[in-house]
Amino acid sequence: MGLIFQFCGLSGAGKTTLANALSNELQVKGYRVKVIDGDVYRQTLCKDLGFSRADRIENISRLGNYAASLNEEFDFIFIAAINPYEEGREVVRRSCNAKLVWIKCDVKVLINRDTKGLYEKALLPDGHPDKIYNLTGLNDVFENPLAPNLVIDTDVLSIEDSLHIAVNFIVNELTLHL
Ligand code: ADX
Repeated sequence: MGLIFQFCGLSGAGKTTLANALSNELQVKGYRVKVIDGDVYRQTLCKDLGFSRADRIENISRLGNYAASLNEEFDFIFIAAINPYEEGREVVRRSCNAKLVWIKCDVKVLINRDTKGLYEKALLPDGHPDKIYNLTGLNDVFENPLAPNLVIDTDVLSIEDSLHIAVNFIVNELTLHL
């Protein structure tokens, strides 16, 4: 049985980057690793869903169920999705026994980075045809996790340091699991 981790955090905080870096690092050590990325599965398994509270909880529930179905085939599964509600995180904790990692970054830093241009769109004036009205962290809710198993502050840590912290945590979880 593999170990499943859910990474939550705002868009651009580094969930995918860290999950992919971890995947590379662990695969080099011979582990079987799967990354389930919210952005990717919104094109397939979750294509019918939008960004309402109900849809976001349905989105993460489906990703959790998918992870659980792959449990036998992988040593580690990382679910990387914004996953903004405690209710959704609890669903995945229950369905997958998944530990919660909060990839934390100040929204001001994300507005500056804006790798996908989403924050700029959310900051457009009301009525603008390109405006996004429900971008998490700006004009939609992100509930700060009350009891994350790990917090990684990507606005102050480099990718290398974040990776180092995550690897240590995961190796420790593996030891507890054995
Ligand atoms: S979640 O909130 O339901 O967990 P998920 O991680 O699957 O979100 O998808 C988030 C991705 O969808 C973002 O990285 C971004 O590329 C895109 N996106 C489009 N609109 C929004 C929005 N209103 N809020 C957040 N992400 C959005």
